[in-house]
Amino acid sequence: MAVILGIESSCDETSASICIDGEIKSNIIAGQAIHAKYGGVVPELASRAHQLHIIPTVDEAIQQAKIHKNDIDAVAFTRGPGLLGSLLVGTSFAKSFALARQIPLIEVNHMQAHILAHFIEEPKPSFPFLCLTVSGGHTQIVLVKDYFDMELLGQTLDDAAGEAFDKTAKILNLPYPGGPLIDKYARDGNPDAYKLPEPQIPELNFSFSGLKTAILYMVQAEEKKNPDFLAENMADVCASVQQRIVSILLNKLKKATKQTGVLDIAIAGGVSANSGLRQGLLEMGKQYGWNVFIPKFEYCTDNAAMIAIAGYHKYLQKEFVGQDIAPLARMHV
Ligand code: KG4
Ligand code: ZN
Repeated sequence: MAVILGIESSCDETSASICIDGEIKSNIIAGQAIHAKYGGVVPELASRAHQLHIIPTVDEAIQQAKIHKNDIDAVAFTRGPGLLGSLLVGTSFAKSFALARQIPLIEVNHMQAHILAHFIEEPKPSFPFLCLTVSGGHTQIVLVKDYFDMELLGQTLDDAAGEAFDKTAKILNLPYPGGPLIDKYARDGNPDAYKLPEPQIPELNFSFSGLKTAILYMVQAEEKKNPDFLAENMADVCASVQQRIVSILLNKLKKATKQTGVLDIAIAGGVSANSGLRQGLLEMGKQYGWNVFIPKFEYCTDNAAMIAIAGYHKYLQKEFVGQDIAPLARMHV
């Protein structure tokens, strides 16, 4: 039997999870509401909150899994990418725990873990598959050849898709994080109400900064005509923005399937919780004969279950690290 404790602390969520023989038994997430009033994550406040949350979160994960901490065989933690101060809290905790209990330590790449969240539950994709990983910090198309053998085929040249949602929300005077709110408003709106540009970016790369500027100019022009423009048209604006971001993502994914011939397609990361993206991917999958894999909502945004499952597969391969390991703000898949 293999009991893995997973720890995630890369951004503003402190999370701990217990995985027993590849099955997730608990996934506790402590969020940090404090950032909302600043309109984005404040790194110094994030690391202090992780410090407060880490021990109660781990205790709760152990309790909910109905095990004792002596039963844990290995501890897996997010090494990066992420905010260094935040990563340091999870890394230091994991190192101390492993040292005290004399158990192996496993480092996990956060971006790989988002993709490996697909191996938590059935249906699991088979290798090779393509994964569109879309979060607050990243937008990538990855060719996944094996659990830890991944090739980056394309990425954003500026803002990430989550950032495009969040920065647009700021223009629309919506609080942080704006992605889920745009999603909510978009449900009642007309996606064709406002025409927004689709950037022409070569190969499988993305760019979202031009779109953000186009939205800003559009809102400013409309507000000159009608100061209540946003209040009166929020649903239509959100639906139009969401449709454009989703179409940019899906068109590149279509290009990637043509380039690789791979028709097993997954999405991962916080933006994969977006209902427009989920719906659009299902429709496109039907049209082009893709096998589509969409994670459960709780495994889309940052969580430790994905770290624990990645850790479990490294545990099987005996891929352990020493106490001299340090977190990294930047890491590639
Ligand atoms: O993966 P994640 O939890 O954290 C990072 O590693 O960045 O992703 C967070 C991002 C935020 O930008 C948030 O606005 C976005 O995911 N997000 C959404 C939705 N839920 C979360 N964006 C659009 N629609 C959603 N439903
Ligand atoms: Zn993430």
